[in-house]
This record gives sequence, structure tokens and C-alpha cells, in this order.
Amino acid sequence: MAMKPTGKRLSAQHVFYRNTHAKLPVITHGKGIYLYDNKGNRYLDGAGGAAVVCLGHGNRRIIEAMHEQAGKIAFCHLSAFSNEPILELSNEICKLTPEGQNRVYFTSGGSEGVETAIKLARAYHVERGRPQKFRIISRSISYHGSTIGALSMTGHHKRRAKYLPMLIPFPRISTCYCYRCPFHLSPKSCHIECAWDLERAILADEPETIAAFIVEPVIGSSAPAVQPPPEYFRIIRKICNKHDVLLIADEVMSGMGRTGKFLAMQHYGVTPDMSVISKGISSGYFPLGAVLVHRDVFKVIQRSRTGKFIHGNTFAGNPLGCAVGLEVLKYLNEEKLIERVEVLGKYFSTKLKKLKRHPFVGDIRCLGLLAGIEFVRSRKSRRPFFPDWEVGDLVAQRCRENGLYVYPGGGSMDNEAGDHILLAPPYIIQEKELDLLVEILDQSLAEVTRELEIRLEELRKNPPGKVLPMPRRRR
Ligand SMILES: Cc1ncc(COP(=O)(O)O)c(C=O)c1O
Repeated sequence: MAMKPTGKRLSAQHVFYRNTHAKLPVITHGKGIYLYDNKGNRYLDGAGGAAVVCLGHGNRRIIEAMHEQAGKIAFCHLSAFSNEPILELSNEICKLTPEGQNRVYFTSGGSEGVETAIKLARAYHVERGRPQKFRIISRSISYHGSTIGALSMTGHHKRRAKYLPMLIPFPRISTCYCYRCPFHLSPKSCHIECAWDLERAILADEPETIAAFIVEPVIGSSAPAVQPPPEYFRIIRKICNKHDVLLIADEVMSGMGRTGKFLAMQHYGVTPDMSVISKGISSGYFPLGAVLVHRDVFKVIQRSRTGKFIHGNTFAGNPLGCAVGLEVLKYLNEEKLIERVEVLGKYFSTKLKKLKRHPFVGDIRCLGLLAGIEFVRSRKSRRPFFPDWEVGDLVAQRCRENGLYVYPGGGSMDNEAGDHILLAPPYIIQEKELDLLVEILDQSLAEVTRELEIRLEELRKNPPGKVLPMPRRRR
């Protein structure tokens, strides 16, 4: 159904956007991989929102499932009633999880899922008679969510800085990031030093207090699509087992088929104690998330004196959200979309390599339909741009003007400097549409390159600290 631009002139004076200076296009509708605004502009949704929209926009089956469920029952509280969609969805999810990971705790999103996972880790240790365990180790380049617990484990400096006094000082280890190896080693001979960093961190300070290690198997917004070498997670699993530390995989972005497997951890053949999923679970049609819990963790809670996990959120596991999740999963399965992501990912990866022709493109990474492009001032030294140049935002802005939406970010070098964009198109995208995405990106990068060259040239002429000659006074 073609829709005309509404042309409505609505005021934004009462909306509190996260950027209070932003003037955002007003999206009125979406269809497949495209978004349309009220002025008639079309945007190719190259980031699927923020790696959310896996089925594309306006999917009739999901809309009808939602409608049907809303007509039956939209909400009943999980403390008193169960519902059919939650039972069906949890059964369907567990057909795709690794052996043993067979309990699903539903949430309304990613941060809520991460909070659930760390509280469950704590509850598990308490019920096993280890009340001293409460600290969670995470990695330095990471994003785990915006709530206080999730932000405490997040490394990203810009997101943390203002809230530092409120955050819990949990330990953090180096991120496995071969393009910017924290140990200045090469993947061929490094002995996966970054994995052993976990054991060093556990032993460094009161090892008996460490409850869990949380990690994004393939990194999302803080360093898009950074992947570890194959052995990394096998070593991590061993270290966790040895020190009675639970392994939590934060798959809020990488899960639900985004990287070509249901869970990204399945690329590495390792089963975590918990996996947090969200985003693609509902393809954006409803706020939804889940924690996939290993039976050994579940049993400890089940066999405790009360059998209760003291935790809960009002909207968690509501029938409407679960009905949406169920239809999304059925669609993914029936259309074999996760397998398709694996195939398309290889095509996408090859196409993206062409962007290396731009001098400021440093690293290009892609697994399935999750990709990241990192920008550098010098490809040789891998030196990033100044953080206040906000090069990721600049690229995103040019792309948007050219009809492509990409997700910008910064801090991928040291949580301050380092610019990138994230690409995560819907799984229904066709090869020729991936070609178009890369074409628009290519053109936008050419424009940004010209702008950056001018700025760098000005900087060379007038380096900071250089005293400029006073302009002559006109008589
Ligand atoms: C890896 C990861 N964890 C957690 C979150 C937080 O999820 P939400 O924004 O739904 O709270 C995100 C969001 O981008 C994420 O990418």
C-alpha cells in the first residue's frame, strides 16, 4: 500500500529527545527495508533501527498476530497467571539454543535482560551457600545497557562519565580486539593473551567475590562486529569453570540470527550459563527481551528453600509481546532467514571491501548481517580522528542526506577516540539492495573524505598552539 507524505506540521516542543538539539526527520511509515518521512523522503534502513528490525517494516503476518492476540488478551500479570504465547515461545526458543540452555526468563528489553542476568548470577551463588560472590567482570570496550547495573559493566566512557559516582566499581579486562590488540600482539602468535586476562583479573583481587563474567560474543555498538579468534571462548569457559564464575553472553545485538547463527556464541561451540537476547526477538514490533538460562542455574533456584527468584518487571512475559516474538520466530524458521543471513553476510562482506578505496576507512568487519566500519586518520598508524570531530556522526549525516540510515558510534579505540558506523540491515534484504546500500555509503564516504581532507589541511597549516599573525588593521 503506497502512502502519501502526511505533510502534517507537528510541533516537537514537548518531546524530550535524548539529543535536545536534534531536528529529527518524522517517520510516518515503513515498508520492507525502507523508512519514509512526512516530507516524502525515503531511507534505506541500513542499521535495522539499531540491529532490531530483522523482518523489515510492515510485515503483515506479525501485524495480524499482534492484532489477534490483542483481541484475545493483551496483558495479565505473570506473578499470578501464565499465558499461551509465553509457553509456546519459550518452547520454540529452546529448540534453537545449545543443549542445556533450556529455561527462558522474559524481559521488556536488553538492559532489563542484563540486569536480570546479573541478579540471577548473584541469586544462584547465594542459594549455593556462596554469599560472598557478587562482583561481575566485564570487558573494557563494551556496551551492556543504560540502567545503573548494566552501565556499571559497560566500558564506554562517554556513556558513563556523568554517572560515575552512581556506578558500581566492577573490574574490567581487556577486550579481544585484534585490529587494536591491547597487548600489541599478532593473532598468529599471541596465545590469546586477552582471554587469560580474565584469569589475571579474577586472581588479582578477592577471587572468591567474583560471581560472573559478561561479554558480547561479537561486539555491537562499542566496536561493531569485532570477533574473537576461535579459541577465545573455549579458554574463557575453562577459566570460568575453574573459578566458579558464571559466563553470561550478552547477545542483545548479536543474537536472534544477526550473525548467521541463532546465537553468535554458537560460532565458537561454547555454551554460556546465560545468554541475554532482545532486539531481533520481536523485530521491533514490541519491546521484548529474554534471558536464556542453563538448567544447572535454574535448578539451583528451583531447589532453593522458597524456589523463588526475587526479581520481576511488570511487562515481562506479557501475552502480547510473546505472541509477537512467537510469530517472528516462526517467520524466521519458515523462511529460513537465519541461514539466509549466513549466505548474505558473505556477499555483504565482499561488497563492503570495496570501501577500502577511501583513505580514512581503517577496518571493515562483517559477520552475517552485522558489520562495522572503523575510520582512522592514518591507515598505517591506525590513529583515530579527534573525538570532537565526531566522524561517525558526520558519515551518518551524509548517508542520511543520501537516503541511507546507518548507526554511528565512537570510542572504539579507548572508549574516547575511535569512530565507526554499524550496519545491520533487515534479513529480508536482497543482494541488489545490499549493492544499493554499499553504493550510497561509497558516495557518502567520498563526500566525507573531501570534508575531512580540507579540515586536516587547515590543521596542518594552523596546528593548535601556533600563533596566527594578527590581521593588518585597515587605515
Ligand atoms: C549488547 C547490548 N547489550 C545491551 C543493550 C541494551 O539494550 P536496551 O537498549 O534494549 O536496553 C544493547 C543495546 O544496544 C546492546 O547492544
